[in-house]
Amino acid sequence: MSQASTTSSSAPAAAQIRREASRRRTFAVISHPDAGKSTLTEALALHARVIGTAGATNGKDNRRETVSDWMQMEKDRGISISSAALQFAYRDTVINLLDTPGHADFSEDTYRVLAAVDCAVMLIDAAKGLETQTMKLFEVCRARNLPIITVINKWDRPGLDPLALMDEINERTGLTPMPLTWAVGFSGDFRGVWDLRGEEFVRFTRQNSGASLALEEHLDLDAAAEQEGDAWSTAQDEVELVTDSGAEFDRDLFLAAKGTPILFSSAALNFGVKQILDTLVDIAPPASPREDRDGGRRPVEAPFSGFVFKVQAGMNKAHRDHVAFIRVCSGVFERGMVVTHANTGKTFATKYAQHLFGREREVIDEAWPGDVVGLVNASALRVGDSLYLEEPVQYPPIPLFSPEHFRVARSKDPSRYKQFRRGIDQLEHEGIIQVLRSDRRGDQAPVLAAVGPMQFEVVEDRMTQDFNAPMRYEQLPYSLARLTTPDAAEVLSNVHGAEVLQRSDGEFLALFNDVWALRRVEKNHSSVQLTPIGTAAPTSTAY
Ligand code: G4P
Repeated sequence: MSQASTTSSSAPAAAQIRREASRRRTFAVISHPDAGKSTLTEALALHARVIGTAGATNGKDNRRETVSDWMQMEKDRGISISSAALQFAYRDTVINLLDTPGHADFSEDTYRVLAAVDCAVMLIDAAKGLETQTMKLFEVCRARNLPIITVINKWDRPGLDPLALMDEINERTGLTPMPLTWAVGFSGDFRGVWDLRGEEFVRFTRQNSGASLALEEHLDLDAAAEQEGDAWSTAQDEVELVTDSGAEFDRDLFLAAKGTPILFSSAALNFGVKQILDTLVDIAPPASPREDRDGGRRPVEAPFSGFVFKVQAGMNKAHRDHVAFIRVCSGVFERGMVVTHANTGKTFATKYAQHLFGREREVIDEAWPGDVVGLVNASALRVGDSLYLEEPVQYPPIPLFSPEHFRVARSKDPSRYKQFRRGIDQLEHEGIIQVLRSDRRGDQAPVLAAVGPMQFEVVEDRMTQDFNAPMRYEQLPYSLARLTTPDAAEVLSNVHGAEVLQRSDGEFLALFNDVWALRRVEKNHSSVQLTPIGTAAPTSTAY
């Protein structure tokens, strides 16, 4: 991995910071599981020549060795739970690719990552079109006004009609599809892409089962027509229909998150991947001034500031470390600088700063707006916290999701209660689970609240592995939570199908078996305040 920045001095000039910020492209790849997110991540890294060939990271036999998978549970299950950032230089830019979990149960993590990026690449499986999680992710991006580049992947396999896919995107997301490349050859016979802006045909030839870069030939349009025959005429007809419907690329529409550029790829064969990277460089927004809690925007050249979008412990078993991932918003981060933790006003030394992606780590000496820094041993930092140098700033908090699964947690061995308590507090601190308590249930039996049930498995696993505090669960019947006030606890204490507990951040949550139990309370106890929790989980059917 390369840090890819220019020289460091103790006080970089504003112009240098602005220049470095304008070179940054910070984005995440998001998709419904199985659309090819991990494969594309590998392929992007391959194109930037971070890894020599994708052979070590791509393909069934080695899939579990990908650069982004590291946790035992992830390896066992072949899913990616953790999020970190991969940085590489491409052309004259520095690309920061933030990893997101593949499983819908960890969508809260994905949401946090989306708070830290400037753009998203949405992968769609050509055979499946817009799937449940795709739609929910589009919604989350819309809520954040995040520009999206849409990539139709797996074009090497039989799939849907491309025009039908354009219609589906338009009708179901409300975004105008604006193709930048168009597939030549029907899905299942992917010959290449027509680069609509460069006005050329890029023909791909498969190499070594996708383990190395695909061979690219660049042909002018006449040569393409001559050599590709029917496949070319079909593409011509399709492009004509799409452009006639007003879907020409408009960067302002893209940046305003009203239109989405479209590209076609086969991540597995490395077809169309270079075009995705070039699109990121050419049109994706660079790091720019970020809105703070008061609605102001701190210029990128202002003194250092950033916010925590992920906290993770136990990444390195030998060191029992605790890493906070910071998105740099302004200024230059220099390792060793002493910054202020906005939430406590305390100073914070940054001696141990790293780039982390998968199991790879590298000490980072400086970082610029758009970059991600992993601060090791940052146990005081929580998701959403801001850090700054000199002038204070606080970035908007990252809202918690509304939990939909609830279980009582108990230590299997009462004599290890201290370790149990420490473990639960730590995992809550990392944002892996929400922890609710009440006098009635007592401290020994906290209620854990999750967006997806797999979070419980992560907790159980970490409690045993990291804290040596084996635990067990008792299922609770609740499926719905509302914010409420302390006095609701008494009112609802005898109501069937409802219960009030206090979350660690001080908020009171009323839990309900189902929507009927909620409605009954709304009807019979109208004095009880019940407010929906800010962000409904993208996994939620109510979303
Ligand atoms: P995810 O992270 O979004 O969950 O998807 P992932 O990359 O793990 O890909 C899911 C499956 O789709 C993998 O197949 C992967 O190889 C395949 N895949 C990804 N991109 C493409 C593509 O462009 N074309 C084709 N044909 N397949 C693609 P798998 O069966 O899990 O493993 P494998 O044996 O194919 O490696």
